[in-house]
Amino acid sequence: MTTRFDQSPSADGLWTGLRGLDGQPCAITVADGRIVWTGAPDAVPAAHVSLPRHEGGGALVTPGLVDCHTHLVYGGQRANEFAMRLAGASYEEVAKAGGGIVSSVRATREASEDSLFASASARLQSLLAEGVCAIEIKSGYGLSLEHERKQLRVARRLGEAHGVTVRTTFLGAHALPPEYAGRSQDYIDLVCREMLPALHAEGLVDAVDVFCERIAFTLAETEQVFQAAQALGIPVKLHAEQLSDMGGAALAARYGALSCDHIEHLSQAGIDAMAAAGTVAVLLPGAYYTLRDTQLPPIAALRAAGVPMAVSTDHNPGTSPALSLLLMANMACTLFRLTVPEAIAGITTHAARALGLQDTHGTLVAGRPANFVLWKLQDAAELAYWFGQRPVRCVVRQGRIAEG
Ligand code: NIG
Ligand code: FE
Repeated sequence: MTTRFDQSPSADGLWTGLRGLDGQPCAITVADGRIVWTGAPDAVPAAHVSLPRHEGGGALVTPGLVDCHTHLVYGGQRANEFAMRLAGASYEEVAKAGGGIVSSVRATREASEDSLFASASARLQSLLAEGVCAIEIKSGYGLSLEHERKQLRVARRLGEAHGVTVRTTFLGAHALPPEYAGRSQDYIDLVCREMLPALHAEGLVDAVDVFCERIAFTLAETEQVFQAAQALGIPVKLHAEQLSDMGGAALAARYGALSCDHIEHLSQAGIDAMAAAGTVAVLLPGAYYTLRDTQLPPIAALRAAGVPMAVSTDHNPGTSPALSLLLMANMACTLFRLTVPEAIAGITTHAARALGLQDTHGTLVAGRPANFVLWKLQDAAELAYWFGQRPVRCVVRQGRIAEG
């Protein structure tokens, strides 16, 4: 039986015996669940010296991790498609044969809110145990007002029950539901005129996303959804250029998108538009790996243009059944050739920015909620080096000692 989050011990007090990402000794003071001071151990303010002590024993400390792109709430699983792809079928062929996203839609519609909560909770716990302190959770397996609402309500409940920052993203335009076959425009009208306004009014939508792809929605349909979001003042992001270059990233940048995600087929024009708009590039090596993709995202050009790069699990039952953000950091280095500091920024600072959380998450700064991780590691590079283990000593989440 795990301790309920709200009964976890407070992290208030002076944390000493820490080393920062730069390898230098550091200390942190937490009061009322917030970081109130951080600096060198020999500069601890006199008033903090008598506070309760938390001894780190030389542990590496990082900001709490941020998983900025997940589809965590869904019914069922799709191991059968894994087998189909191993036998040679492509993701697009599986989708066209009635599998893919739509098969998770069937299972999600059949599942009760409580059973979705239970299955997503178990998955969330794996991510939290590895140091995740903020997570984005998308809808997109309901594809009707009732079932998208159910998914987003579960996402909100997960945040409350587990004491983790959850940003919800409405992805009603993820796939065409079977009952709208051949009527894509009617479905997009429903998304824009009924679903989004209703879910927004219920406080369930922090951002809006679209799957802009030849097996999903066109550029014009994507823009219609963006216009509806903009009219309601909701930020947008995009599943862009995953399987082909649709020009989605440039469109998203024109709408000031928080992020464009996947982007294996991103063009230089898309990169330039993202750089100008300050849009984050979210790299998803789990999907690249699972689909045995060979088209690498244009990392060197993104770097040259100064586009901030984030790294995420893209946890979903089809293309990325991954529950380790550190493994994604490792894969971003090994498969995409990110440097270790880029990968670490990708799962902290830049991931926070991809969610609009740059003022509260992703860096260790006084005044922010206390979200940080102590690691059983000597060297920051080990964060991206090991895989298949969980080198966490302790996680402080929302001012509580949540793990370890
Ligand atoms: O991010 N690309 C679209 N959406 C998901 C896959 C969803 C699924 O296959 O269920 C993704 O890869
Ligand atoms: Fe995704």
